[in-house]
Formats: sequence, C-alpha cells, structure tokens
Amino acid sequence: MSKFITFEGVDGAGKSTHLAWFADALRQRGLDVVVTREPGGTPLGEQLREILLNQPMSIGTEALLMFAARLEHIEQVIKPALRAGKWVISDRFSDASFAYQGGGRGMDWEKLHQLEQWVHPDLQPDLTLFFDVPVEVARQRLSNNVSLDRFEQEQSDFFERVRAGYHRRVQENPQRYAVIDAAQTLDSVKHELEVIISIL
Ligand code: TYD
Repeated sequence: MSKFITFEGVDGAGKSTHLAWFADALRQRGLDVVVTREPGGTPLGEQLREILLNQPMSIGTEALLMFAARLEHIEQVIKPALRAGKWVISDRFSDASFAYQGGGRGMDWEKLHQLEQWVHPDLQPDLTLFFDVPVEVARQRLSNNVSLDRFEQEQSDFFERVRAGYHRRVQENPQRYAVIDAAQTLDSVKHELEVIISIL
C-alpha cells in the first residue's frame, strides 16, 4: 500500500542527506518510491521556489505562494503517485509553513490552519520524520555552505522560533511524527531510520 512520508527540520538539521539514504533503503526493499520537495516538485512550483528563496516579500505573500506551490504539487505529483500505489517522500510539506511562516515570521497560526484546510482537507502525511537539532548545531553546519538563500540568511532567533513552531505542530498531532535527535552522528541517525523502516 502507498504511503506519504515527509521530512522536516530547521535548515542545517541534515534532513536532505537522511532523505536520500532513506529513499534508497526503501527502494532496496523493492518499493516504488517518488522523491520530491517543497517548495517545488512541479515546473511551476520550482519557479515559485526560485522566487520564494530569493525575492523579498510580505509574510502573507510568502505563505500564500508556499501553499500555491503546494496545491500544484499535491494535484500534479503527490496524489497521482499515491493513487498509482507508489510511496511518496517529500522534503518538507505543510509543517514547514507552520514552522517558518507561523513560528519564524509570526504569521497567525489559525490562518495557516485555514490555508491547510483549503489546500489539502483530505490529505496528511502518514508519517513525518522531524529532525530536531539545537539551533547552534544547525547554524554551524550551514556555515560550510557557500551561498545561503533568503531563509538560511536569517539569524539564530528566527531559527529558534522555527524550531518552536515545529514543536508546537508535533504537540498538536503527536502520533503522526517520529522525532529524531539530529545532533547525533550520521550513523546513529541512520540506525534510528533503520528501526523506523523495519516497522513501516
Ligand atoms: P530547503 O528545503 O532547506 O532546501 P535546501 O536544503 O536546498 O536549502 O529549503 C527550502 C526553504 O524554504 C527552507 O529554508 C524552508 C523554507 N520553507 C518555508 O519557509 N515554508 C514552507 O512551507 C516550505 C515548504 C519551505
């Protein structure tokens, strides 16, 4: 049976590295896996990503464009793949809007719930892996990157609010999440992922 799995965490948590490994591990078990990302995942969504990551804009515009890209993504990629019996793994989904636009930028939480209800009233991930890491550790990892996008250029207090936004979201619906301590070594995280895969 198909499953929809999302990966979340503050920038620098290491989720993209773990996502690639996780998808390979599922493929080795013979599963048909679609890997995608937000914002993005469709031609229009990737154009919106380019704008979102580089152009200054108001908080409301940022949230609306994130959800606009998401609606395309759901209709063009996620739902068709799930209907075809595939597993879909997305690098970020709506939890990121709650964490970044809600927590980080301070957008009204209830408005985000309304957007979520509008854009995907009938779809939620079966499982969300939240890579949780102290902000200083994530910042340290990001410092190796040569170019930082509009979000990555934010200061530590922004990322503290993003992290708190993720925690609030986990508290609202704890059974959907696996919270992974991403400050551990890569091998320890991989071991946790193996355990998760064994019970999927
Ligand atoms: P990210 O997924 O971290 O990509 P990369 O690993 O290539 O840097 O970058 C996407 C950025 O977009 C990230 O900083 C979080 C932000 N974002 C939001 O603010 N809201 C959202 O709803 C989504 C999906 C992403």
